[in-house]
Amino acid sequence: MKRITYISNFSRSLTRKEIKNIGIVSQTNNARERITGILLSCSDMFFQILEGDDDQVDLLYEKILKDDRHNQIVCLASELNITERSFAEWSMKVIILDKNNDILVKPIKVLLQTLRESKMALANYTHSGILQAIENGVNPLTLTPRYTEKIILFADIMSFTSITEKLQVTEVVELLNQFFTICTSEISAKGGEVTKFIGDCVMAYFDGDRANEALQASLDILSKLEVLRDRSPVNSPLRVLYVGIGLSKGTVLEGNIGSQIKKEYTIIGDAVNVAAKIESLTRKLNRFLVFSAAVKDGLSDHWKLLKMDDFYAEGREAIVEVYSIDDSLVSQKSDFHSLKQEIKDQLELIGNKTLEPCKQSKTLFILYDQ
Ligand SMILES: Cc1cc2nc3c(=O)[nH]c(=O)nc-3n(C[C@H](O)[C@H](O)[C@H](O)COP(=O)(O)O)c2cc1C
Repeated sequence: MKRITYISNFSRSLTRKEIKNIGIVSQTNNARERITGILLSCSDMFFQILEGDDDQVDLLYEKILKDDRHNQIVCLASELNITERSFAEWSMKVIILDKNNDILVKPIKVLLQTLRESKMALANYTHSGILQAIENGVNPLTLTPRYTEKIILFADIMSFTSITEKLQVTEVVELLNQFFTICTSEISAKGGEVTKFIGDCVMAYFDGDRANEALQASLDILSKLEVLRDRSPVNSPLRVLYVGIGLSKGTVLEGNIGSQIKKEYTIIGDAVNVAAKIESLTRKLNRFLVFSAAVKDGLSDHWKLLKMDDFYAEGREAIVEVYSIDDSLVSQKSDFHSLKQEIKDQLELIGNKTLEPCKQSKTLFILYDQ
């Protein structure tokens, strides 16, 4: 059996009668589907526990997720293989904690809100596999490393050293945030997992049979960046946000890596190094996107492939066969040196504009000195 625990917010104000009605429908349906649980309503939040056969619980939860009487639904736990029900006697016990006369309302509301915030903060910093394990009641520290086939993506900002040299640190952070936001949303939309941000670089991976999705996500990132550059004001730092993307494929070890006190859930293997090396070839090949032969082999027919020169990647013995695709998003309009110069010129322009804050820092210094 399975148990799902979640919290949600009312999407509009609901009367006691409306909440009781949810209970009445639930009790009838749940008795039929052998589902048990509780539904707590507290101020403008719901807290519900559903337990029963896996398929029945999943079907009901899907239905509940679509119910427009609530939103911001956050699953707190999804426990599998439970052997005993906690609420065997209730097909759905509804408890309404009333705003006006129940002293429990305030602390329970704070508790639920704190739970939601912690869960959401955790989700921002944590690998989704780890979060899934916690939700499923599995201690992530007990996950054993496993070999698996992955497509690895590296995306890296071009001329980042010049960017950090010429721009204010707040502008650099804004640029990085825009870049990371685009990468995260396009990669996860295609089923990939962003594993980490390394300085100005995004490392992500897709399952080994997802070459088409990995390539499409890469193109979507390039397309979103092109729109961002074109729509940004003339003197905006976002005008110089160009990236190189490299993809490789291979067997990697996925799991916990680190020390006793600090761990990371990530992937390790030769294919990861190859992806990083291939990404750096984007500068030599004047393409924004290049990938290895193993990635190419997993693609369907509709891509217009371009075979690039073979390369000896630094520190590696084997030759790397490199491909790209024939797409206007991928070809750099000029060679990389001209693009680099273009970025430098644009940064000079922006740099002059941002000289002003230096005066401010002088004033700040005086203030600080006092
Ligand atoms: C917070 C909340 C909890 C709910 N819990 C249940 C439940 O336990 N069982 C159930 O059948 N419907 C539940 N519902 C209602 C379902 O979303 C859906 O409206 C209902 O199952 C439709 O029933 P029907 O197919 O009999 O019309 C809940 C709705 C909300 C907003």
